[in-house]
This record gives sequence, C-alpha cells and structure tokens, in this order.
Amino acid sequence: MRLSNCHNFKDFRKLAKKRLPAPIFHYIDGAADDEITYKRNTSAYDDVDLIPNVLAGVEKVDLSTTIFGKKIDMPLFCAPTAVQRLFHHDGERAVAKAAEKYGTMFGVSSLGTVSVEEISELINTPKMFQFYFHKDRGLNDSMIERAKESKFDVLALTVDTITGGNRERDLRTGFSIPPKLTPASMLSFILKPKWGINFLTKAKFELPHLQDYVAAGTNATTSIGSYFSNMLDQSMNWNDAEKLCSQWGGHFALKGIMSVEDAKRAVDIGCTGIMVSNHGGRQLDGSRAPFDQLAEIVDAVGDKIDVICEGGIQRGTHVLKALSIGAKACSGGRLYLYALAAAGQVGVERALGQYRSELERDMKLMGCTSVDQLNRSNLRFR
Ligand code: LAC
Repeated sequence: MRLSNCHNFKDFRKLAKKRLPAPIFHYIDGAADDEITYKRNTSAYDDVDLIPNVLAGVEKVDLSTTIFGKKIDMPLFCAPTAVQRLFHHDGERAVAKAAEKYGTMFGVSSLGTVSVEEISELINTPKMFQFYFHKDRGLNDSMIERAKESKFDVLALTVDTITGGNRERDLRTGFSIPPKLTPASMLSFILKPKWGINFLTKAKFELPHLQDYVAAGTNATTSIGSYFSNMLDQSMNWNDAEKLCSQWGGHFALKGIMSVEDAKRAVDIGCTGIMVSNHGGRQLDGSRAPFDQLAEIVDAVGDKIDVICEGGIQRGTHVLKALSIGAKACSGGRLYLYALAAAGQVGVERALGQYRSELERDMKLMGCTSVDQLNRSNLRFR
C-alpha cells in the first residue's frame, strides 16, 4: 500500500494503519463503548438518496460557501483535532498548508501540537481555534488572548467533552499523551521504527497552548479521558458560554450541539454558528448521528446562524446530502487525519484534492453549478 494507491478514505485509513504504532492508530480510529454512533455517523448518509437533475449546463461549478463571514473554496473543512504531531512529525503545519492550498478552513485544537502563533504566520486562509474550558481560568484567558492576537477567525467552544468518553481501544493499548512505552505497547512501537525515529529526532513533542499551565503540557503523561475529566471544568454552563462569547467578541461557535433546544440557546447567547457533532462518536455512544439530527436543527436555527454538519464524512456525496438538508458546510477529523498519518502534507493535499474532485464531479452529476442550488427536493429518505 502506497500513497499513489490511496483513492479514498478507506485507502488512507489502511496506509495510516501500516505507518502508525497500534496505540496511536487506534486513538484516531477508535470511538466510545461499542462504537455504534461512530459507525452510524457514516451509515446515516446511506438512508438518503440524491435525486439528480440533468441538462443543466454544468461546465463550471462553484463550490464556494461562506461560513462565519469567510468565503471558503469548498464546503468541507478540516475540523480541529488534538495532538497531530503524534500522527506525523509535521502535524498541524502539514494540515494547515494543505487546507490553505484548497482554500478551506483549518482548525487548531487547545490540544494542538503547533502554536496558534506559528499557524497564523504559516497560512492566510480562515482559521478556527477549538477552545476547551479548563478549571484554570488563567489558562482559558491566555488561550483566548493568544488566539485573538494570532487573528484566528472563529472560536469554537467544545461542549461535548464534559467528561471523558469510554474509549476501550485506548484502555487496551494504554494510549497516553505523550505516548509511553509499556511492556504491552513496546512491540507495537518496535514494529514501526520509522515513526519512532521521527518522534525521537524531530522537534520535541509539546502542547504549546497548555504547557505553562497544566501538567498535561509538560513531560507528564496523561490519558485523554483523565485530561477531559480532571482538567476541564464540569461546572461549565450557558452563562460561561455566553461570557466566553462576549470575551472573544468575534465569530463564536459551539462544537458538539445535537439538540434543537441547545441550537436555539446557542442563537440566544450570540453564537454565529454551531457544529452539529458528536465528537466523531468518541463521547456518548448511542447518541444520534449529526446527519440524522441535521434537518430539525436547520429548521429551528438555519436562518439565523451557520450550521455545520460534522462527523462521518467519507465522500463528496455525504457533503452534498448535508448541504441539501441545509448545512452551510461540513467538517471532519478522520477524513484528513489518516492522510496526515499516511504521508504528512502531501497526504492531506491528496485527500483534500480528492474530496474537491468528488464534490465537483458529484455537483455536475447532480446538475448543480453552485452549492446554494442544493435543497431538500434533491433528496429522498428511504
Ligand atoms: C479526542 C479529543 C482530544 O476526541 O478531541 O480525543
């Protein structure tokens, strides 16, 4: 399996599996409990069929859309995800450059491994900072300041990680941040010497947004579950979100909204967008898929704020289905993370290039020349 053989999501996943030590691959690939929600996030798209129109004169297709007041060249973007330098030594740098090449948004996590300052020097395209609400208010203020100074366009407050999801693959592999050699994981690291050499010889692993504040940013190792459960503030409520929204003073999103009630409250506190998401099925297994929940949320708030559909996207047609329901754009993590693990920046460029071509081809086959032509009359639920 080589990069030139990667033609779709599944191919990139296979190559990532070949390249990464098992605990790291399973951290990306795994989800909560029985991983039912994780699978449903993608299979939900199969319950809906597209109805194409023909003879529409489609030689030119405009894939652009506007989210959070910024025009992006395609309606799919790279959702913020944690610790990307564990997956490839270039980490966020590689993804940022690839996103810039395709004119789409790129998200950096509070748990990112390249700083907001560096990302802002590196690219000129729209950027989102994914904010985790920590008990340590000094840390929260410092991250908001840094993202502001670095001219990030959107602050996305993560609201679906109030406690750690039960990720049993991580329990079995002993995955931690940074990775720790244990008798059980030793073999999986020995089997991927190239990853190990890069990890040990490239710039030291860091969590630059956290390192001055919490042990998770230093040499101490932590599991994602205990980070969420111990470092984040479980008392976080709507007042906190509203205060953050005004402290930030720019485009503000809640990431991880699944109910109509919450979507309406997001509008009330001043959000300019929401990401309908269940954190890639990594938190509450048995919760609904974002695509299944999209229509009722769009009906309630779609005319007031940008609704982003996140999770499970593996095909251009998935994006077109979400847009037909009324999402302004889609986003995802694994859709570029396997490609990052497979081949760094060229891998992510190849993946985003393929999504772009799929989107363009699928739009032509749908008889559409701009994304605002997609609507519910293009769809039938089975
Ligand atoms: C995760 C977090 C860190 O799902 O976003 O692992």
